[in-house]
Amino acid sequence: MRFTIAQIKEKKQKGEKIAMLTAYDYGTARILDELGVPLVLVGDSLGNVVLGYESTIPVTMNDMIHHTKAVVRGTSTSLVIGDMPFMTYHTSISDAMRNAARFIQEAGAQAVKLEGGERMAETVRAIVDVGIPVMGHIGLTPQSINQLGGYKVQGKSSTAAAQLLNDAQALDEAGAFAIVLELVPAPLARLITEKVSVPTIGIGAGPHCDGQVQVIHDMLGLYSDFVPKHAKQYARLRETIRSAVADYVNEVTTGAFPTEKHSSTMDESIIAELSASSGRRHTSSRSRAR
Ligand code: KIV
Repeated sequence: MRFTIAQIKEKKQKGEKIAMLTAYDYGTARILDELGVPLVLVGDSLGNVVLGYESTIPVTMNDMIHHTKAVVRGTSTSLVIGDMPFMTYHTSISDAMRNAARFIQEAGAQAVKLEGGERMAETVRAIVDVGIPVMGHIGLTPQSINQLGGYKVQGKSSTAAAQLLNDAQALDEAGAFAIVLELVPAPLARLITEKVSVPTIGIGAGPHCDGQVQVIHDMLGLYSDFVPKHAKQYARLRETIRSAVADYVNEVTTGAFPTEKHSSTMDESIIAELSASSGRRHTSSRSRAR
């Protein structure tokens, strides 16, 4: 049985912190599910960490559906959230509903996430009204990177802080079941968390949110060239993988791998017979007939 939206909301009332992580493939999803991670986000950060794009903007619905299906196959208890890509929910409310439905109907996700506050409230309401749970996302919204002018902390001025609070309250009123706060100063994230009825999930938003989300590649240390300030590396997997690959290449090159342990045997008399008849090519009846 998967975590339900009601159980996630209940965690805020009970003061239980919520751990959320991203996943993009079956194997990783299985590990998160085994460990009881309640919320697994198939983020459009897929574009950066899996597909090698510079931003999330090129990510398509088909990319997201493909990866969400794999994550759903790898989970049985985590609640899987599909991230709606750039321009799949902006053109009209009916486009937004149709694309949200693809995540649920085609990919098997239990919820969707979309970026934007007050200006997206009507869209959130329409999607929620047809029975699709929606997670909001405000603060630094990577799909608007060209307008924001960089990956910077949001909501520092009094106007921007008031707008972020409005955004969170509008999403809450529109029926979002949780709200991601990305790169929001900790005191503002705390105020928003107190003012909304649904859980806030922070990333670079301090310790007072109801939960936290990290991009799994960041927390596992899979990239060393760029580590965001808000990320904590719980492992250095890049180094582990580099060392394992170097050992493998060395062992294949020197003949140390594979050994008998990694090989299979057969009746040696068959080999002896084949070897004795060598020189004569064994042809199939079809090739002989030609
Ligand atoms: O795409 C993503 O992974 C996200 C999280 C960082 C919240 O939106």
